[in-house]
Amino acid sequence: RYEITQRETTAEILPGIRTPLWTYEGTFPGPTIESRRGRPVTVRHRNELPVPTVVHLHGGRTPAASDGYPTDLVLPGGWPAVQSGHHHMGGMRDPRAVETRLTRDYTFPLDQRPTLLWYHDHRMDFTAPAIWRGLAGLHLVRDDAEDALGLPSGPRELPLMISDRAFGADGTLTYPALDPALRERPGVQEPYLAGVLGDVILVNGAPWPVHEVDAVRYRLRVLNASNARHYELEAVTDDGRRLDLVQVGADQGLLAAPVVHASLPIAPAERYDLVVDFSGVPVGGRVRIVNRLGSGRTRDVMAFRVTRKAKDGSRVPHVLSADLPSWRRSDAVRVRDLSFRAGRMDGGHGWLIDGKPFDPARTDVTTRLGDVEVWRLVADVHHPVHLHLVGFRVLSRGGRPPLPHDAGLKDTVSLRPGEAAEIITRFDGYRGRYLFHCHNAEHEDMGMMANLQVT
Ligand code: C2O
Ligand code: CU
Ligand code: CU
Repeated sequence: RYEITQRETTAEILPGIRTPLWTYEGTFPGPTIESRRGRPVTVRHRNELPVPTVVHLHGGRTPAASDGYPTDLVLPGGWPAVQSGHHHMGGMRDPRAVETRLTRDYTFPLDQRPTLLWYHDHRMDFTAPAIWRGLAGLHLVRDDAEDALGLPSGPRELPLMISDRAFGADGTLTYPALDPALRERPGVQEPYLAGVLGDVILVNGAPWPVHEVDAVRYRLRVLNASNARHYELEAVTDDGRRLDLVQVGADQGLLAAPVVHASLPIAPAERYDLVVDFSGVPVGGRVRIVNRLGSGRTRDVMAFRVTRKAKDGSRVPHVLSADLPSWRRSDAVRVRDLSFRAGRMDGGHGWLIDGKPFDPARTDVTTRLGDVEVWRLVADVHHPVHLHLVGFRVLSRGGRPPLPHDAGLKDTVSLRPGEAAEIITRFDGYRGRYLFHCHNAEHEDMGMMANLQVT
């Protein structure tokens, strides 16, 4: 049981200047929650921000009532709807109703594979600016089987929440980031359309941090919490050598076996569980984590400085997990086609799924609890597509087998421009109303989200 107060504060992110933030519990990122598989956790959120909020546990297998539907608001104190008996309150001034909306209890069964989850704001139309101002935090789920593997742990396991932000001269976060120099996608006129980018890269809320490490293996739990920025990460030593990124897990937990990458693309909301071995780096040497897609200062992400030799009791077993679902195409009772494309809406420009912007009153996809489905997703530009409630496997990309970084169980798949991909999943867990959407947070706010009803 946890209590988190959402409140405004300022923090020194850039040296010598205070940045106003919206936070969970006064920090950015919010407090990291660590849970055990199958042990339910209740988090009471109290909203002391000036706006309504919604909390979603990304990657959580959560009953719909606690999944953070975009209109299930936690109202702030003094919000007009509370005082006027607005129709959302049933027209009644029930003091208990008022009370439950100033705080809200979210209950997470966490009956799922251990992995790195994250919680973030999910209010309809305003998710992107809320995350940008700081409403994001990590939630790790563990179990005994994973603990027994012997992967690097304790101070040698590092959660890394990567995000970009733009700052004004007074230290405030700039949203949208209007500086044309920040716009790395040519031809984009609207400040929001492609998604908002920043020119400062933060890891766990700190700009380009340098972390001291022993010359041993480390486990890096990487999350791309950026609104719109894609990264292709590599680990480079001072003398230009690339260290292997040994992937042991994906969005939804451990792989069956490790996969070695020279570099690794990561789209918004994706997670990778990586092991990096610093034992070949001389004491005093540095390993930079670089974004190959960035330029200038957005090329650097963070660095590790190797400070001493040390004993390494960790290992990376050849078999990591045996419980990965292996649904086959022939298991599917349904195949759906879904397009993720720009289009016109209300005379303006929007991001649409199957030609439609998000409407909380419309059911877009209905499935039955326990059904296996194949979804064929097609994109115009980059769209990281995320499903609530379930993990899925990537079956194909562009008619070809999935890429090495598609391994394992995912909850977000990065569709590349013009690409069609197939995913397969079983809709088990809970009945109710869930979502799927693009996790470019601006695309999501501009309509690229739809309802999934599990009956
Ligand atoms: Cu990361 Cu619908 O969310
Ligand atoms: Cu989610
Ligand atoms: Cu998108």
